Amino acid sequence: MQALPGFRDFLPSDCAVRNYIFAQWREVSRRYGFVEYDGPLLEDLELFKKKSGDEIGKQLYDFTDKGGRAVALRPEMTPTLARMVAGAHRDFRKPMKWFCVPQMFRYERMQRGRLREHYQYNCDIIGDAGIEADVELIAVCIDMLRSFGFGADDVVVRISDREFWVEFLRGQDLPEDQWQQTLEVIDKSEREPREKTAARLGELAEPVLKILDGGGQSEKLGRLMDGLRQRGLAEFATVDLGIVRGLAYYTGVVFEAFDRGRNLRAIAGGGRYDNLIAQLSDGTASLPAIGFAMGDVVLGELMQNHAGARAKMEAAVARERELDAYVVIAKEERRGDAIAVVQALRNQHYRVDYPLSPTKVGRQFQHAEQLGAHAAVLFGDEWPQVKVKDLATREEQLVPQEELLAHLSASASLSSRGR
Ligand code: HAM
Repeated sequence: MQALPGFRDFLPSDCAVRNYIFAQWREVSRRYGFVEYDGPLLEDLELFKKKSGDEIGKQLYDFTDKGGRAVALRPEMTPTLARMVAGAHRDFRKPMKWFCVPQMFRYERMQRGRLREHYQYNCDIIGDAGIEADVELIAVCIDMLRSFGFGADDVVVRISDREFWVEFLRGQDLPEDQWQQTLEVIDKSEREPREKTAARLGELAEPVLKILDGGGQSEKLGRLMDGLRQRGLAEFATVDLGIVRGLAYYTGVVFEAFDRGRNLRAIAGGGRYDNLIAQLSDGTASLPAIGFAMGDVVLGELMQNHAGARAKMEAAVARERELDAYVVIAKEERRGDAIAVVQALRNQHYRVDYPLSPTKVGRQFQHAEQLGAHAAVLFGDEWPQVKVKDLATREEQLVPQEELLAHLSASASLSSRGR
């Protein structure tokens, strides 16, 4: 039996890559003063039906639980976050800077970069309506991409403003209940033939296409770009009014991060959702908010295709797997002494492995090499001395067993970890 379509097995090498991605997500978040939270994997179906909008509504993994409740696996975090904040915000100082690293489930039509589960870093600022919060959040997104090794030639954050479009639509003779539909056409315009977009826009085609061709001005987005410029990050961003985002809850600034080559779907996306928390608390908690999410699938593909980012990832993966020493048991009567040393080294926080059953010495050395151990420590005829072999330089040394710990901790490759 295989995993379901769109679901991944994480073999140790995949897990190591995932650990690296998660570690970067957490490290950069903390650099910006964000704290980690999490919510439930399963929620009341209504939460997503009402708050995520039509597209995600159709992709829900939903079912009835044994208690007869209609529930769904989370397709995104924002409704859960808004629900949690609506209930608990009084206990926290504003603005709240929160992040999380949840797994998401969407029954999507599978394409490159699109699976039915993915991990999605979420980062949100709650309780601040100002443009500085917008700048701070987009800066996290940019710095996150930089931390993986991407430069301004590799990635770009395209920034827009739904308010700009709402004001435009207000100026047109279009009933308010058709605004969302028009925004969706604009959102898809880049991926569809121009004639199709024009046909769907009807009378609005001419002015909308003019704006999409670069004919729109937004003072707010100008200030936002100034904020990024102050931080030296403006070259990673551009104003692009063609971005409106598919999710229904956005109210203001929206943005998406892409690879410059436009080979992949969006790496990240987000925006301001100033009404969502109020809606979920029946108006008792009225808190402005802005956030974004970055998926691990597109990010992973992008790293594979970028030499610098890939090298950085591979170095981190190798570091994670590093083994300090492999204890080679050449004479089975020394097994007890060897295991005592294995434990003593582990007590000192060294990473040590040894053969669980009698094994030929050659195979043990082979295994030590495969595991990438720095040193092999041989227990054999030399006892009460042990032979320490540096597996990188191939140098060997005989060391009295009572000096082994001191000897290992003096060795450059081992001294960093042991305590
Ligand atoms: P989203 O644009 O739906 O936003 O998803 C954010 C990112 O998650 C996407 O840019 C993409 O990298 C990744 N992603 C989404 N669906 C899939 C999939 N099926 N397979 C692989 N990767 C995927 C949101 O979810 C918003 N809740 C973000 C947000 C946070 N807004 C405010 N705060």
